[in-house]
Amino acid sequence: MRVTRLKLRGYRNYAECTLEPAKGVTVLLGDNGQGKTNLLEAVYLTCTGRSHRTRQDKELIQRNAEFASVHIYAERRDGSHDVEVLLPRAGKRHIKIAGQEASRSGELLGHVTGVLFSPEDLRTVKDGPAERRRFVDMTLSQLQPAYYYSMQRYNRALKQRNELLREAASNVSLYATLDAWDEQLAAHGAELMHFRRDYIDKLRIQASQTHMEIAEGKERLQIEYLPNIALGDEREQILEALFSARDTDMRRMTTSVGPHRDDVAVLIDGWDVRAYGSQGQQRTAALSMRLAELTVIRSQLDEWPILMLDDVMSELDPGRRRRLLERLEGIQTLVTCTDPEDLAGAKAERVFRVDNASIFPMNSIPEHIPEE
Ligand SMILES: Nc1ncnc2c1ncn2[C@@H]1O[C@H](COP(=O)(O)OP(=O)(O)OP(=O)(O)O)[C@@H](O)[C@H]1O
Ligand SMILES: [Mg+2]
Repeated sequence: MRVTRLKLRGYRNYAECTLEPAKGVTVLLGDNGQGKTNLLEAVYLTCTGRSHRTRQDKELIQRNAEFASVHIYAERRDGSHDVEVLLPRAGKRHIKIAGQEASRSGELLGHVTGVLFSPEDLRTVKDGPAERRRFVDMTLSQLQPAYYYSMQRYNRALKQRNELLREAASNVSLYATLDAWDEQLAAHGAELMHFRRDYIDKLRIQASQTHMEIAEGKERLQIEYLPNIALGDEREQILEALFSARDTDMRRMTTSVGPHRDDVAVLIDGWDVRAYGSQGQQRTAALSMRLAELTVIRSQLDEWPILMLDDVMSELDPGRRRRLLERLEGIQTLVTCTDPEDLAGAKAERVFRVDNASIFPMNSIPEHIPEE
């Protein structure tokens, strides 16, 4: 698939901007703080419904603007897609599909599919389980809107159960209603676990292969699903676990077991990358996971998603960088960089200079950024 046009209004530092990316590689070149990442973030927002940097819609709205709009046009195997996300300063966001107001937030998913690799991704490897769940959740939501809806229902039930646990501390008769929430958590939690297991199974194979290639066979990357509840009849298992944990949950006034505590293990040569990996190894592991995600999406959708590489070239050694660039054939890619030298070897079809929220087409990658 490919994005043909991106139109921003009142988004981050952009009052107005239209970007028409090339079929292949488009380079966004500019100094720090000019608005390169903001462009990728806007595309990612239309893919997943979320920014990769914040959960607060307000931050995305240009200071002093009343609303932000991200309007994107894409071509896929099944035809043209036209999606607009409107974020008003007051009130709820609106989503328009081909000009028609959508009634559910999940309707945004499945129109534009993309994979973003950014410096923040290091967190997938370095930080706690929440970051790895987010990594899985974002891809699965794009691939299967059903997953997104299961997640919504699960999270809603979890929130209600936790509220109940807090309220029941001063009103014990409320504990009687815990069963109903346990049933809900078990039903939707089992769905989540199914999707996650299937997806991570595919991801694992791709990631280890990709990593072999990028790291030239010097390291073995292993990814494993670490469910909080044992696999096999998940619904029953979740129910049992919730029941056994009741005393603890009542005391702590929160739900201590379930797929909201799932994790994904990331190991290099059998060792936890989080604890033992070098900075470069962690970076390469995060990159391999993203590229694996790209391949799994491709095999599922039968077309490539778009790839966004935010400032990652400068962080890879020349060999890893070259092997990454070789993989971009046939994939619409948006690459940001501050130094054109980072892109040596890239077949850039279009280059834009990003300067204080304006974008200017350039003929080719300059040898050096002109000095002001
Ligand atoms: N809501 C907002 N309203 C106005 N400006 C904003 C808003 N949010 C962020 N900005 C501005 O956007 C700019 C940052 O843009 P962005 O993150 O895209 O930079 P960048 O070109 O990727 O820089 P770097 O090379 O440092 O990563 C900053 O100048 C910041 O002040
Ligand atoms: Mg940036």
